[in-house]
Amino acid sequence: MGLPEDFRWGVATAAYQIEGAVAEDGRGPSTWDTFSHTPGRTRDGHTGDVACDHYHRWPEDVALMAGLGVDAYRFSIAWPRVQPSGSGAVNAKGLDFYDRLVDGLLLAGIAPAATLYHWDLPQPLEDAGGWMERDTAYRFAEFSYLAAERLSDRVDMWITLNEPVVVTAYGYAFGVYAPGRTLLLDALPTAHHQLLGHGLAVNALRSRGARSVGLTNHYSPAWAASPADQPAADAFDAFMNRLFTDPVLLGRYPDLMGDAPFIRSEDMSVIASPVDFLGVNYYNPTRIATPAEGPLPFDIVDITEYPTTGMGWPIVPDAFLSLLRTLDSRYDLPPLHITENGCSFADEPGPDGAVDDPSRIEFLDAHIAAVRTAVDEGVDIRGYFAWSLLDNFEWAEGYHPRFGLVHVDYETQKRTPKTSYGWYRDLIASSKRR
Ligand code: FCB
Repeated sequence: MGLPEDFRWGVATAAYQIEGAVAEDGRGPSTWDTFSHTPGRTRDGHTGDVACDHYHRWPEDVALMAGLGVDAYRFSIAWPRVQPSGSGAVNAKGLDFYDRLVDGLLLAGIAPAATLYHWDLPQPLEDAGGWMERDTAYRFAEFSYLAAERLSDRVDMWITLNEPVVVTAYGYAFGVYAPGRTLLLDALPTAHHQLLGHGLAVNALRSRGARSVGLTNHYSPAWAASPADQPAADAFDAFMNRLFTDPVLLGRYPDLMGDAPFIRSEDMSVIASPVDFLGVNYYNPTRIATPAEGPLPFDIVDITEYPTTGMGWPIVPDAFLSLLRTLDSRYDLPPLHITENGCSFADEPGPDGAVDDPSRIEFLDAHIAAVRTAVDEGVDIRGYFAWSLLDNFEWAEGYHPRFGLVHVDYETQKRTPKTSYGWYRDLIASSKRR
């Protein structure tokens, strides 16, 4: 069997993690600007102010992608560049940037895959309540409409939300990511409002001619620490793996949501608007135990019997395969795209300037093998996007983790393709020669 003829190899990034130029051409502040500039929020106080300076260096970055031979590039469109206050008139210069980028990609033969919300909410919307407010869903649909109006003739895939579970959990429940709120279970409205925003955006995008529309979720198989912990693992599974997928693909919430007052009956059909694909981000499984106390129905415990990445995340390609099988058995799936998968290590240039990263090659090889096996078993997977093209701003961890196929020296902005870059290039080339 093997991968389909038109299988798409890609790389992924996100606006705040690479662009920099946060005050340029009329961009407004986002929650991540505010958060990263708040003392103590990010490691060593790192911010995305400059990041990889991709806003100015994008031609070089597109050339790096062309050198890899990727079919597609997943990037995100910064809402605060397009609508600096989160609503109202378009800031033309903001959209011009993505217009140039999209044209540059097409010239290089690379299909643009645009994410509309990769966590950089315009700060004025957060000041009005952010995703706790229903109105933010409508604002997001409006932004999506404006982006599609300008770009849908050339953007190949549209991803509404990136990993909404992370926004709800890390952003609003535990406060370790922007906007840094600690609402615990009271953060659940942010799940519904993001999903409503997704559904409204699907329709807005289609009305402006978008070809292919979906969303990207974060998935982590839940491993019960012992048989007695299975109910806790199921609760984690419902939160992490089902909360943002069941409503979209099944039109209903998993039990944990209950009859929440913020859900209107007419919302579910909007949320379940048909999608053309589901984006899957996978990094690692999670081990779950029953909590002794506390507000949550599960405790996360360390997985210690596997090697780990620089983030301390266990490397378990088999869990990726089991995730793909679970998704396939749980739902009547649209085509899948692996929209993120990758790893960080402490990659630094050697004496000769080369950046050798054998662990990344091993990681990617094993995870891509899981994709191939799933495809052989009949799971409909159409693409794989490695996270990430470049080392970049890894949220609360700042610039410490290095996830790139290309090393970035943040002092000089020099890009150095790592050994894994050449490996991925050869893999793509050999899959085309078949
Ligand atoms: C994902 C995010 C992405 C990146 C990777 C490592 O959760 O979507 O932006 O930070 O993790």
